Amino acid sequence: MYKAPRGTSDILPEEYAYWKYVEEKAAVLCHLYGYRPLNTPIFEDAQLFTKTVASGTDIVDKEMYIFEDKSGQELALRAEGTAPVCRAYLEHGLFNLAQPVKLYYSGPAFRYERPQSGRYRQHHQVGFEALGEADPALDAEVIEMGWQFFRSLGLSGISIQLNSIGCKLCRPGYLEVLKQHYSSYKDRLCPDCKARLTRNPLRLLDCKKASCQDIAKSAPKIPDYLCHECQLHFQSVQNYLRTLRTPFQLNHRLVRGLDYYTRTVFEVEPPEKEGQSTLGGGGRYDDLIEALGGKPTPAVGFAAGLERIILNLKGQHLDIPPLPQPDAFVAYLGQEFKIEAMKIASELRKAEIATIMATGDKSLKGQMRQANSLGSTYVLILGEQESRNKNATLRDMKSGEQQTIPVAEIANIIKSRLHDSQK
Ligand code: HAM
Repeated sequence: MYKAPRGTSDILPEEYAYWKYVEEKAAVLCHLYGYRPLNTPIFEDAQLFTKTVASGTDIVDKEMYIFEDKSGQELALRAEGTAPVCRAYLEHGLFNLAQPVKLYYSGPAFRYERPQSGRYRQHHQVGFEALGEADPALDAEVIEMGWQFFRSLGLSGISIQLNSIGCKLCRPGYLEVLKQHYSSYKDRLCPDCKARLTRNPLRLLDCKKASCQDIAKSAPKIPDYLCHECQLHFQSVQNYLRTLRTPFQLNHRLVRGLDYYTRTVFEVEPPEKEGQSTLGGGGRYDDLIEALGGKPTPAVGFAAGLERIILNLKGQHLDIPPLPQPDAFVAYLGQEFKIEAMKIASELRKAEIATIMATGDKSLKGQMRQANSLGSTYVLILGEQESRNKNATLRDMKSGEQQTIPVAEIANIIKSRLHDSQK
């Protein structure tokens, strides 16, 4: 028997109700904030990620799905959504539009991770990116939007962690003092952090090992080393967030797992943080579009993981609207009435009534059982008596009431009843 590859899963209809709920909330929110949808390919030139997310990060060094296609081109499955959006922005000349250009997406991302609850090899993100604007008001708006997203989902106990990691002018000075600090504890560092010390010192602050966390506690704090412009920017973001009544906690040890960030970084945490359970993260990436060959273009964005959101919706026992159920089920009492039943089902669908047609040679009892398990609101029954008078029996599955109605009137009667029940 084949199985879905390790770290991936099928999304069956019952589960899909959650996905639809989250994706629809995201689409409504994006519309409210002026973001328009885009889709980028599932695979890209591998360098799009290796150059932007950058070596020295786990995502590039350990987790990329890289392969050669038949022409020998090196491609990678999409590891995250931001670099592809920037590529599309450049490729389609979106910099010629009024700035900022606000775009959102929803789709799978692939990382070769060690699978566990909330951590998969194929996961799904909804993300939004605002390209072409440096105003700190936009950072605050993006953070507020992330906050409103989780609120609109009904999740409680969510918190936002906020930091600034400076820019290419002030960060190198900070990295020097950070390296000095860690160098004096070199013997106590885990093997990963020993490598980070030379390859990606900022990531030292994010190590989850207890011994390394102790060293992080006494490490110099990046906000103390920001240049004047970065300080002003960071202060403005915080002031705007207060104006927008969006709560946040400053966390000077917050760094992100991707290397393209400048200045603002933030993450959204669930109430009980077990291990790697961050619900979403984002920030400013003012150098990324230039690194992809464009003109210097400031930008800011955010992405959240759908699987982790759904785990939290379930954990908080939130009621999610079920997937829509069929309006009608057409049953027939013997093969000779099947053609008439098929015609009725076809007419109902043309009238936009969601209809399931019985199939095979089940007894009426079997067909009713099927209609019941599908959650159909009405069942139409066609038998000899009904057919003789061009009628059908309409059964309301909730009340159990039955009524004989003319075939020509079925669509109108069901429509008006459905309409009345929605009032
Ligand atoms: P990220 O933090 O790498 O950021 O991923 C965003 C979210 O995707 C995470 O917070 C998490 O909820 C989810 N996620 C990541 N990896 C996994 C996994 N292996 N299994 C399950 N869920 C996962 C980015 O990807 C940036 N592109 C976000 C961004 C947008 N920054 C600016 N704009």
